[in-house]
Amino acid sequence: MAPAENSSPVGNGSSEPKYPIKYTKCFIDGEFVDAISGKTFETLDPRTGEVITSVAEGDAVDIDRAVKAARQAFDEGPWPRMSGAARGKVLFKYADLIEQHTDELAYLETLDNGKPFVLSKYADIVGVLKCLRNVAGWADKISGQTYKMDGPYQGMSLYEPYGVTGAIIPWNFPMLMFMLKVGPALAAGNTIVVKPAEQTPLTALYLAALAKEAGIPSGALNVVPGFGPTAGAAVASHMDINKVGFTGSTEVGKIIMEAAAKSNLKPVTLELGGKSPLVICEDADLDAAVDIANLALFFNMGQCCTAGSRVFVQDTIYDAFVAKAVEKAKKRVVGDPFKPEVEQGPQVDETQFKKILEYIESGKAEGAQLLTGGCAAGNKGYYIEPTIFGDVQDDMKIAREEIFGPVMSLLKFKTLDEAIKRANTSSYGLAAAIVSKDIDVANRFARSVRAGTVWINCYHVYDQSLPFGGYKTSGFGREHGLHSILSHMQLKAIVTPLKDSPWL
Ligand code: NAI
Ligand code: MG
Repeated sequence: MAPAENSSPVGNGSSEPKYPIKYTKCFIDGEFVDAISGKTFETLDPRTGEVITSVAEGDAVDIDRAVKAARQAFDEGPWPRMSGAARGKVLFKYADLIEQHTDELAYLETLDNGKPFVLSKYADIVGVLKCLRNVAGWADKISGQTYKMDGPYQGMSLYEPYGVTGAIIPWNFPMLMFMLKVGPALAAGNTIVVKPAEQTPLTALYLAALAKEAGIPSGALNVVPGFGPTAGAAVASHMDINKVGFTGSTEVGKIIMEAAAKSNLKPVTLELGGKSPLVICEDADLDAAVDIANLALFFNMGQCCTAGSRVFVQDTIYDAFVAKAVEKAKKRVVGDPFKPEVEQGPQVDETQFKKILEYIESGKAEGAQLLTGGCAAGNKGYYIEPTIFGDVQDDMKIAREEIFGPVMSLLKFKTLDEAIKRANTSSYGLAAAIVSKDIDVANRFARSVRAGTVWINCYHVYDQSLPFGGYKTSGFGREHGLHSILSHMQLKAIVTPLKDSPWL
């Protein structure tokens, strides 16, 4: 283990395991360093709003310092020059180290983000490991082609890394988002500068320390905590970053694309927001449909870009569905995310908490029927009751905008054609799902809905073998496995004359 650069103990007086916070500085060129300004910002525990620790506040000058290190590591360092097999070996070692530190990483993630510890441990870290091992396995399997050209020439295509890449990531799955960008960028031979979300910087810094221990060379991976309009904007507009990957809001995605265009025209991949439709047909097994809808929306406190936040229920089963959906939501255990029985922790911060409560007020004001929940839960921290609105209409704010919280909207429909049409009215197109026993109905929906992922009789099932990304304002570019490695590479054509060859 790399030596800790700071070890202030943390205790928040509840049932969580305790580990010291070891890493709070910028990780640049293989070292933990203060921000050049000396500034820090506080990261808070969403259970209480209390300070966990202070973290270096990187700014444009720190991003520039990190980019210089990443540039040197790319232009002169070993990482892009190593064989794919050698890079893969280092990345497999990195995965093993992460696995060995599962408990501590899961602790930090829950402390900083508020998600249930069991999720951090059994979902997020497992996802991180699958991502990293998948791309490590691809590292030595990327190859171009040779072409028989129209003339006495030989053509070849060669996949090459972009160079220095940048990543700006959100707070809803901090470790997983980190690895979805860092894993493929490194596997492809790039170097990278990561700007973690200001709400949740701790696991990214820990993962940086483990990367060093695994043997990822200095400068190949740099992590600069800081805020969006300063450090994040510096990544998007940097003249020496060759590609940028972003996950977050559509609003900021547009800013990033504009900054990329106005600086050096770097390509961007954008994984943005969603307002995903889930269509429950009258032939569905009602209990299964209720379970699917509950998972689709309430998973991760509703803080999922893919959340099934528009639940269309066929009119003939609407009342029966409502009764069971409400009963299930009421049973959801909300509380301290370190307690093993807890299913729902706090929202990530006060901003999100207030924003969600405002959406709930707008739902009430616009005439949706509040069926359960609707208030903050408890009197400290950022907890919100699992909330369901019935009789939601397509033009209501809660049916159009991404709430990113535990607020389910139920909408009634009569025919499949109507459901498809209404599902597609959203400006977003990230995911969609249908629950039906009729394969023809399900297939018609899957082919007709404008979304990057369609689930049939399931929800929130992801795999590194499957492409992941959006249609419409949910963004573009595909992540996971080979898809994301190729999006971190550019394709070069090489041509050479074929002389004196009898076999043109
Ligand atoms: P955001 O889009 O502002 O933040 C995501 C990342 O972008 C953070 O690292 C942030 O520091 C950075 N950022 C912010 N402004 C930037 C700028 N001008 N230039 C460069 N980087 C910038 O999301 P925020 O404010 O945390 O949440 C707002 C809403 O965004 C949420 O309520 C939710 O609807 C959506 N969201 C969607 C996510 C997804 O997974 N697609 C994840 C997080 C938020
Ligand atoms: Mg923001």
